[in-house]
Amino acid sequence: MSKSIRFLIAAFAALLVAALLTAGTQPKGNEGKGRYYFRQACKECHTKGAKGGEITPLTKTQAQWRAYFVKAKHAGGAEAITKVMPDTQLLDVQTYLVNHAADSPQPETCGK
Ligand code: HEC
Repeated sequence: MSKSIRFLIAAFAALLVAALLTAGTQPKGNEGKGRYYFRQACKECHTKGAKGGEITPLTKTQAQWRAYFVKAKHAGGAEAITKVMPDTQLLDVQTYLVNHAADSPQPETCGK
C-alpha cells in the first residue's frame, strides 16, 4: 500500500471518530419537558434565598452541565442526582440545561 493511501485511510478514520464523538455529546431528551420538570422540581430549592441557592441554565456552560450529569452527584456530592427525579426525567432536564447554558446558542434569558 502506498504511503498516501495509508495517510488517507488514517485521516478518514480520525474524521469518523471525531464525528461519532461530537454526535454522542448532545443529550437526546425532550427540552420542553425538561423545562417543565426543572421548574416543578428543581426550582423548589433553587431560587434566590431557597436552601439550594439560585440555579438556572446560565449557572454553567454546556460542558459543565454535561460533566455534572455524568458525575450525577447532587448537593455538594452528598447524594445521587437520581434521588431528585427518575433517570428519564433527568435526561429531559439535562437537555434543557445544556441547550440553554451560558455559552449555548440560545442562553436562557427569561422565566428564570
Ligand atoms: C430538596 C431540595 C433540592 C432539590 C429538589 C434540588 N436541589 Fe439541587 N441542591 C440542593 C442543595 C441543598 C444543594 C447544595 C447547595 C450548596 O452546597 O450551597 C444543591 C446543589 C445543586 C447544584 C450545585 C452543585 C452541587 O451539586 O452541589 C446543582 C447544579 C443542583 N443542585 C442542581 C439541581 C437540579 C438540576 C435539580 C432538579 C433535578 C435540583 N438541584 C433539585 C437542594 C435541592
